[in-house]
Order: sequence, then C-alpha cells, then structure tokens
Amino acid sequence: MVIDFFANYIKEQLGIVYERGNYYQLEKRLEELAKSENCSSIEELALKARNGISGNFKTKLLDLATNNETSFFRDPKIFEMLEKEVFPHFIRHKMHEIRVWSAACSFGQEIYSVLMLQQELAFGARPEIREFVATDISEKALKKAAEGIYNHVEMGRGLNPHLQNKFFNPAKEPNHWQVKVDLRRKVNFKSQNLLDPFNHLGKFDLILCRNVLIYQTVDKKTNIIDRLYDQLTEHGILVMGVGESMIGLSNKFEQLTFGSVSIYRKKQNVAKKAA
Ligand SMILES: C[S@@+](CC[C@H](N)C(=O)[O-])C[C@H]1O[C@@H](n2cnc3c(N)ncnc32)[C@H](O)[C@@H]1O
Repeated sequence: MVIDFFANYIKEQLGIVYERGNYYQLEKRLEELAKSENCSSIEELALKARNGISGNFKTKLLDLATNNETSFFRDPKIFEMLEKEVFPHFIRHKMHEIRVWSAACSFGQEIYSVLMLQQELAFGARPEIREFVATDISEKALKKAAEGIYNHVEMGRGLNPHLQNKFFNPAKEPNHWQVKVDLRRKVNFKSQNLLDPFNHLGKFDLILCRNVLIYQTVDKKTNIIDRLYDQLTEHGILVMGVGESMIGLSNKFEQLTFGSVSIYRKKQNVAKKAA
C-alpha cells in the first residue's frame, strides 16, 4: 500500500505514528500535496519521493503530517497554576529573570498566552522573561506563530476583550488581529525536531511541552523526557498536556498537582547517569 511508504517516512522523521485506521486522514492530505507537486496521484507522488525527499517537498510533507490544534489559554487551569504556583515558586527561588521554551508552539497561541499572563501580573509578583524560545517542526506553524495574526474564530477561542484590546492590533485583513510588536519581539522562533538533539538551546526555567508527546511511541517519549530533564535549571518546571502523564516514563520528576492538573519539577539529588 503506497500510504505505508509515507506513514513510515513520517514515523521515522517525526516519531508520529499513523495507524492504518487513520490512513484516510493522511490520504486526503497526500492527495492535496500531490496536486501541488503536479503529480496526478499519490502513487506518482511516491515515485517522486523515492527519488529523494528534501527541501520544500520535505517541508510540505512534514507539515501535512502534524496536527497543529491549539488555542489561547488552552486548558485554563494550567495558566492558573502558572500564575498561582509556578511564578511564585520562581520568585521564592530568586529566579527573577527566567528563560522559557515552548517546545511545540504550533501557531503561537501558547506562547502569547504565557506572555500575556506574565504581563498582566504586577511587578514583584512575576518573574521577567529574559528569553522566550519557541520551536516546532512545522514551518507553516512557525511562520504563523511569528506573524501572530489570528482570525475571529481563533481569537474567540480563549481570549477575552480586555486581552484582545491590550495586546492585539487589527490586522490588514478584515476580522484578523495581530499580536502587538513588543510582545512578538520577545520571542525567538526556531525550527526544532524533538527527536533531534536540542541541548544547543541551553537551559530553561520553564518548559512547555504540551500535546505533542501523545503522538510518540513510549520509547521516544521516554527519550525526549529524559533530555528535557537535562535542559531544566535546578528549580525548573516542565509543563505537559493535561491528558499526558509521566507515569512509566521517568522517575526523575516530582509531580505538583493543583486541582485536576499537574506539572513537574526536577527532583533534587537524582543520581547522574553513568557515563
Ligand atoms: C497539537 S499541537 C500542540 C500545540 C501547543 N503546544 C498546545 O498544546 O496547544 C502539536 C505540535 O507539535 C508539533 N510536532 C509534532 N511532532 C513534532 C516533533 N517531532 N518535533 C517538534 N514538533 C513536533 C506539531 O507541528 C504541532 O504544531
């Protein structure tokens, strides 16, 4: 089956597993890619792919494999926890200037939600953000995140009028709004596949890695979480998606629970891996 070829490539490149039951999703997207690549069918697209997948073709193929579903203040309890538990934790540890990483930022709503939350808090009750790094594997998602332009449906998902007026300007296109430049300027966007080494990004005080590991096999999840641990500063915090859990993946984190949601703090004094 020709879809197997693409499913295998996607699994190898991104770790995303498409089960046969979900091939219809892939098929629809591959048909569109075939058209845009001037191929008459997915079979012809596969012939082209077998000669090598690189450049723009590779970017488009990886883009179509990702699910970029996101929204402003997705899972609001997480943001309440950032405000009431995580930011005070940083202040208590005298971490007044933090580095933050959104490790699968998609279209950017997660980044701007954290920045808006931080800006809304009074000086003294908030750490300043020294650097906000935002990464994703999808070029399409990174481009949109960096532009920070959203339509009225996207704006309606999680934003209130106060935040809209304070942090957005009307964009050129009707019914679209753009994040103000001073907020966009705070973010450093980079392409990063979480399967590849990411230690060059440096250490972070707060890592958001939400709703991306769900697509990975247990082995790959364990490996990524192990490496995220290494990227956290001593009192660093890891935030995962509300439906995701560390159970069976790592015992190097302490779980902090707030109502129905949890975040993870580095356990202190975890023995270093043998070299
Ligand atoms: C469902 S979105 C999550 C967005 C945001 N974190 C949230 O929770 O709303 C998943 C994102 O993970 C990205 N992604 C998938 N596989 C990836 C990989 N191997 N490395 C980096 N990003 C990946 C996708 O491109 C997509 O933008």
